[in-house]
Amino acid sequence: MQTDFLVIGSGIAGLTYALKVAAAKPYLKVTVITKAHSDETNTKYAQGGIAGVWDDATDSFDKHIEDTLIAGDGLCHKKIVEIVVKEGPGRIKEIIEWGAEFDKDADGDYSLGKEGGHSVHRILHHKDITGQEMERALIEKIQSLPNIELINHCFVVDIITQHHLGFLITKSTLDIECYGVYMLNLQTNEIETVLSKVTVFATGGNGQAYRTTTNPKIATGDGVAMVYRAKGRIENMEFIQFHPTALYEPGVSPSFLITEAVRGDGGILLNKDGQAFMPRYDERKDLAPRDIVARAIDSEMKISGTEHVYLDCRHMGKEKFIHHFPNIYQKCLSIGIDVMQQPIPVAPAAHYSCGGIKTDEFGRTSIKNLYACGECASTGLHGANRLASNSLLEAMVFSHRAYLDSIQLVDGLSYKEQIPAWSDTGTTDPKEMILITQSLKELQSVMSDYVGIVRTDVRLERANKRLDLLFTETEELYKSIRLSPQLCELRNLITVGYLIVKGAGFRKESRGLHFNTDHPEKSKLLENIIL
Ligand code: FAD
Ligand code: SIN
Repeated sequence: MQTDFLVIGSGIAGLTYALKVAAAKPYLKVTVITKAHSDETNTKYAQGGIAGVWDDATDSFDKHIEDTLIAGDGLCHKKIVEIVVKEGPGRIKEIIEWGAEFDKDADGDYSLGKEGGHSVHRILHHKDITGQEMERALIEKIQSLPNIELINHCFVVDIITQHHLGFLITKSTLDIECYGVYMLNLQTNEIETVLSKVTVFATGGNGQAYRTTTNPKIATGDGVAMVYRAKGRIENMEFIQFHPTALYEPGVSPSFLITEAVRGDGGILLNKDGQAFMPRYDERKDLAPRDIVARAIDSEMKISGTEHVYLDCRHMGKEKFIHHFPNIYQKCLSIGIDVMQQPIPVAPAAHYSCGGIKTDEFGRTSIKNLYACGECASTGLHGANRLASNSLLEAMVFSHRAYLDSIQLVDGLSYKEQIPAWSDTGTTDPKEMILITQSLKELQSVMSDYVGIVRTDVRLERANKRLDLLFTETEELYKSIRLSPQLCELRNLITVGYLIVKGAGFRKESRGLHFNTDHPEKSKLLENIIL
């Protein structure tokens, strides 16, 4: 297959990019590939909304910039923060023009929500299913552009570079080029070669590296792992954001999120004894940035020996609650919790990867003709901790910027010929899937138990040793059995786990989402860790 623009991922980042290039270059071919059904993305599950400066009377660019920088704890790239905050409202207006609807108040003005770390109300939302509404609008819009082909159920395995032409590529190679990808077609079980002029990774997050996560099954860090294998630059992987309030439902994966907007509307965290504990941890109480709230909950759970705390909404007013949070209300009812009568049991869950594929201000990666946007990218916006509802915004701003840059580039590019077909000679069909499924469970346990909200040097060292073994065993499998999505995802998650542990080990301080009790202070060196 050959395509001018190859987009991997059908969440907000991939679809926004595809729409824009397809409209700007109607005579060129745009192909969007997704390993699952096109709407099975992290985007679909976004609840709270998209942040943006909307009401000039109460808000300003300076305030949104300041809030983002405070949450990022010294590691945000200020220029990037300014770009995202200032260009954000324009991008939000575009998705409204494409048909996404956000809630309005009785006067017809957008009803703005508030979440942890925001100094004012600035979050546009669609009830508590904002992502589903944005994904719907994008998928509908895609269908109006005849030069976009959306291909479901094809798993991208690796990036094609000079390595596949027999050249030695290392981290120091300066001009690594991307010629396309190898993809496993899940209908035929064949590995196909897809050649492209421009390739965009919009492959989302990696929450599945942890036992408890809000991320759906597709969030396995494939893009980051592929770029790392191709010797591209990855950064800040140690900054994994744990959402403070996932619904506590043992054995259910992924965890259902109770949006931070519930706390924005007055929800209060209580410990096992019914005590509101956040005032003891931070003056911003329940609306402190996520790292602080998640650590406070972790500490309360450790003190009391419980597996969850509670989110109390009983005082919030039934009508208002059901109006803003109908999905949460119904979900809780479905498991026997009437939120107007009982507090909701909640616990932190892995939620968002702040680091990822290192990109510049136009979404360019360190590999030529390869862009990255959305959660898989590390643009410099989030630093050591992402401000709530800034990621949908970041995805839209950077897919726009990648589009501006790549439409200039594409006309000067051609397809690379003589790319060898994928070879699986010598491999056989897998005899037992348990070798893969059990390793995945082990990986998730290692990451949750040793590389979670609170880390220590010994735990990181242990995690490293366990991951080494999992890596060796999985590479042996990879060489001997036919590829399956399960095997590829396991392999990618092990790489992601390794990168998180490596980054965490190098960072000899506690900052933002990375908290190591052996290094509780912040260091004076403000550095990104590039792997
Ligand atoms: P995704 O939407 O995750 O899309 C990734 C795509 O890549 C999928 O189509 C997937 O199939 C594809 N893919 C991945 N690997 C491969 C492969 N190997 N081959 C082929 N295809 C592949 N952020 C906010 O700003 N506001 C919120 O309110 C909010 N709420 C959230 C609530 C939940 C429960 C979760 C999980 C996240 C939330 N976030 C929120 C974060 C935000 O939703 C995500 O960061 C964002 O949607 C990511 O978009 P994306 O386009 O980068 O990736
Ligand atoms: C939430 O709704 O609490 C999630 C928002 C986010 O992850 O930005």
